[in-house]
Amino acid sequence: MSKYDPLWRRVGGETSHSFVMTFDQIREDPVRNGARQAGTSSSRERCRVPDRLMVGRARTLRDAARLVRRQVFVDEQGVPEDEVFDGADGRAVHVVAFTGEDPLATARCLELGSHIWRVGQVAVLEPARGLGTGTLVMRAALKHIVSCGGVEIVLAAQSGAAEFYRRLGFAQCAPGDALESGVVLVPMSLTL
Ligand SMILES: CC(C)(COP(=O)(O)OP(=O)(O)OC[C@H]1O[C@@H](n2cnc3c(N)ncnc32)[C@H](O)[C@@H]1OP(=O)(O)O)[C@@H](O)C(=O)NCCC(=O)NCCS
Repeated sequence: MSKYDPLWRRVGGETSHSFVMTFDQIREDPVRNGARQAGTSSSRERCRVPDRLMVGRARTLRDAARLVRRQVFVDEQGVPEDEVFDGADGRAVHVVAFTGEDPLATARCLELGSHIWRVGQVAVLEPARGLGTGTLVMRAALKHIVSCGGVEIVLAAQSGAAEFYRRLGFAQCAPGDALESGVVLVPMSLTL
């Protein structure tokens, strides 16, 4: 059995390098929390859960990701713009979850070399949190990285979000680092 098999099953085992999931596929996907909620939610809740997920390098996708990141990191958390828009977007693969035409959530995958990837800029709009959307986006990022032959994923979690990543299988791999702002970043990794 390949060492990728457990994760491969968890993320669906597909090999496409970029893909789109429709609402019906999201609803029927048994591996994630949001599926259950998307399938049973009221119409009001439904506009807070994604009906479409896109993964790729297209400029339109990058722009959608940046809209979410601006709202969450710059406007809500007060992170300086140059940290959020750090110049790496053009060489990254972006995962974006939409409801209708509106982006709700995003994550960014960057290949660092030697089959090691960094996932970052993970953000879900405030009204859509706690419904499984972050998990959906992360699973799509993992699926993409597996399909590209990635063997390890690293990330720097805000200490408040470390539990979210632990639930996805990540473990702390080095001591945390306190920024001037007081935010503590926790280095975490997942071996695929
Ligand atoms: C962190 C974030 C991406 C999580 O997205 P989300 O859609 O709310 O997460 P989910 O609903 O998929 O949660 C999955 C699980 O993780 C848990 N979880 C999510 N955020 C958590 C947090 N901050 N602390 C502890 N647990 C958390 C949920 O309770 C849930 O557990 P369950 O499966 O037992 O119900 C989202 O809260 C967010 O965008 N926060 C602001 C931006 C941010 O801090 N990004 C992370 C930068 S490192």
